[in-house]
Amino acid sequence: MHTDREIRGIRTAVAGWRGRGEYIGLVPTMGNLHDGHLRLVEAARRTADRVVVSLFVNPLQFAPGEDYERYPRSFEADAARLAEAGVDLLFAPDVATLYPDGGSRPPTRVEVPGLSDILCGAGRPGHFTGVATVVTKLFNIVAPDAAWFGEKDYQQLLVIRRLVADLCLPVEVFGVPTVRESDGLALSSRNGYLTPEQRAAAPALYQALTAARDAVLAGEEPGNADTAGWNRLQEAGFEPEYFTIRRAADLDEPGPEDRDLVALAAARLGEARLIDNVRFER
Ligand code: PAJ
Repeated sequence: MHTDREIRGIRTAVAGWRGRGEYIGLVPTMGNLHDGHLRLVEAARRTADRVVVSLFVNPLQFAPGEDYERYPRSFEADAARLAEAGVDLLFAPDVATLYPDGGSRPPTRVEVPGLSDILCGAGRPGHFTGVATVVTKLFNIVAPDAAWFGEKDYQQLLVIRRLVADLCLPVEVFGVPTVRESDGLALSSRNGYLTPEQRAAAPALYQALTAARDAVLAGEEPGNADTAGWNRLQEAGFEPEYFTIRRAADLDEPGPEDRDLVALAAARLGEARLIDNVRFER
């Protein structure tokens, strides 16, 4: 595996592969890699001839007061895991490479209105604009044929699908199912913020989501299942931010005729803000 911090080196490597007709895959990450990230790499390797992973903790998607500074960084261990996983190229730019003007002026941004303003976007204003902006930059630097994202961040996946459709970006977007611990907790870099007691309580998030799914499948109104899920999280010691059942296609409120649904929640547990979702058909 080759590692490059510069845009030019990435472009040269990818241009060489493309010239040979190879299909290029990109897996964007913020590092501190776990088996969820590695599952994206495996999926990319099955389809793409060459796999590029980006590792960049993107300041633009963190609001002031969020965990940008203390976000876990483990470059050496990450690079070793990626090399072992068969990644061809690791793009690990410095902040100044992607945001050359630093804080001297606000950077040009890519906005996906509507989808970016609800759920996680309501609790984290500017977050999805930060994600859409950095993903557009990564697509422009790497020029991949396809990119892989986790369903764990379901709203993010929809934002990126819409970004690609609206801007006619020539990138195929693939979603990868959420990788979980044996007790159901979705793998996340932020799980490391949990104390042992909080870690023991954390699977209640997934349990509440699956219980909401089961209630709706048994005929319960989504609105009632939302309230029950919220209460369940509070009883487990979470501070819920939202708990809601939405249409899987666009995260709008579901009507009685909607079949393809997703239960989503965000909740704080101690220092950690955890998100998860469960998709289902009724
Ligand atoms: P990060 O949180 O590092 O996640 C990188 C990718 O891994 C995302 O597509 C995310 O959905 C996926 N992922 C994380 N945990 C997962 C799990 N348990 N199972 C399956 N996939 C999982 O998401 C980001 O970084 C950033 O917002 C990024 C897209 C890189 C833009 O900065």
